[in-house]
Amino acid sequence: MCGIVGVLGTHEVSPIILEALKRLEYRGYDSAGIATVDQGNLDRRRAVGKLINLSDFLVHNPLPGHSGIGHTRWATHGEPSVVNAHPHQAGTVAVVHNGIIENFKALREELAQHGIGFETETDTETVALLTKHYLDDGMSPRDAAEKTISRLEGAFALCFLFDGEEDLLIAARKGSPLAIGHGDGEMFVGSDAIALAPMTNKVTYLDEGDWAVVTRAGAEIIDKNGNRANRDMKEINIEATQVEKGGHKHFMSKEIAEQPTVLGQAINHYLNTEGTAITLPEGTPDFAKIERITMVACGTAYLACLTAKYWFEQVARIPVEVDIASEFRYREPPIPANTLAIFVSQSGETADTLAALRYVTEQGAQTAAVVNVPESSIARESDLTLPILAGAEIGVASTKAFTCQLHVLALMALKAARDRQIIDNSELHRNLVNLRNLPGLLNVAIGRGDAVKKIAKKLSESQDVLFLGRGPMFALALEGALKLKEISYIHAEGYASGELKHGPIALIDKHMPVVVFAPSDSLFDKTVSNMQEVMARGGKIILITDAAGAKEAGEDVWQTIVMPEVDDFLAPILYAVPAQQLAYFTAIAKGTDVDQPRNLAKSVTVE
Ligand code: M6R
Repeated sequence: MCGIVGVLGTHEVSPIILEALKRLEYRGYDSAGIATVDQGNLDRRRAVGKLINLSDFLVHNPLPGHSGIGHTRWATHGEPSVVNAHPHQAGTVAVVHNGIIENFKALREELAQHGIGFETETDTETVALLTKHYLDDGMSPRDAAEKTISRLEGAFALCFLFDGEEDLLIAARKGSPLAIGHGDGEMFVGSDAIALAPMTNKVTYLDEGDWAVVTRAGAEIIDKNGNRANRDMKEINIEATQVEKGGHKHFMSKEIAEQPTVLGQAINHYLNTEGTAITLPEGTPDFAKIERITMVACGTAYLACLTAKYWFEQVARIPVEVDIASEFRYREPPIPANTLAIFVSQSGETADTLAALRYVTEQGAQTAAVVNVPESSIARESDLTLPILAGAEIGVASTKAFTCQLHVLALMALKAARDRQIIDNSELHRNLVNLRNLPGLLNVAIGRGDAVKKIAKKLSESQDVLFLGRGPMFALALEGALKLKEISYIHAEGYASGELKHGPIALIDKHMPVVVFAPSDSLFDKTVSNMQEVMARGGKIILITDAAGAKEAGEDVWQTIVMPEVDDFLAPILYAVPAQQLAYFTAIAKGTDVDQPRNLAKSVTVE
């Protein structure tokens, strides 16, 4: 939530900051702003709404300078407005912030006692005013920033810029990620390495509690105990093309289309050359010694966990608990011995998931991170990291990250089943052969998008939509509903098919489309009965099934999307495609903002 950038450049920085902000816009798009120092003078430009508004504003109101900071905002305190937009400036200091300053009210009261007034409703303005207060007391910019940072509670990444200081940025990290980029006579600060990719691939990640004095000569990093710290500089491999739309109208459609490729690469990565054995990273536990699995995540990542619960329990016979991170972290659940706690997150920075991981770490349990960003906080604080290898996911709606999360969790479940001798080698091989065929099937499914598009056009006229599924398809029903409401703003609910008659069936009438995920597996007949109950009440069924299922379901089904045949175990990965496409094409038909839906941000780094 919110993206921040800082640049100490060798030429004009406004265009460089704009480019970096473009790459961070997925973190928030309520407003944007830039501040620079030019010939010693601190100045700023801010605009409400998408980055394009700031970009247009800068055309007529240019902002010269070789040093600067920038921000793209997801509003927490105060409505999206110019006055609430970052950078916040107080006298000779400007600051950009990602996170929440939890003690901002107490600090405001303290500043008010010194006669200091406020212009905005934001928590961030407190940071700028407090720094100004210390500067007015005669402190140097460095000391004033250090003193301010020490007074702040909550989660934050900050970057300070000072009037009269063309070779100085101060950056701080507590709870929100921050990277320092090293250029040739230039230095950068950014919320993530993707933002810095066009400028540099040499990146140092600040650790929790670090702050840094950045000049063109380098960065001096101070740890949470006030000691000089050496942090590794890493070479990050982010291809520029990963953050382009590659001919697609939206990142979401590009990311749906990429699934066969990225999944194929991930399969190659995690299987041996012959494709006969799973090679998970060193440190992956022997599941014969694991008595229980706890999985924690948010949103779509949570629904990947819910799918995997069926796999671990049915295939590997391990009891699994799945929890929403924001509930788990405050419930303080006991963690029994021999528990493996798995944290799933695309970004690896989701605040609640990170807090849940820290709680489990304190309890002494073994932790594993299933993440897309291997340098993320969740990865770095877990005992074991399993990267999902989806590549940069920019669309706010998670698509390829979901299927790549499912892939890694499926491999873990199969390894667990083998470790526990629930399946033998030939059963493992059978599953791996099926897995290697999956990218091809995903291609076929994606190729059926035109059929989904026609149905989505009809769906776009609905006010409400129900999604049903049984077994692992229940989790996919929840995911289908989440995707639809997230990007098309149509109210949608996911239910376990068997729950229908315990309440939601009261909603059914001729206006209510019901999307049913039902491959022709052992539960199919039960789902057909549930569909009959819907149709008997005038409800309109959109059935997503295979050819055998389509035949068996009969003629009364309103619309059918036919998937290629797939092994039951892998069906949730394949059936994710029509769930994604249904949401995507419905949003297109409604004309909503697919990649940047209202009120949302890609990376939720505040609670
Ligand atoms: O980065 P994470 O995977 O931890 O994010 C979790 C959720 O915020 C995320 O999956 C969200 O629900 C997606 N926008 C759904 O499409």
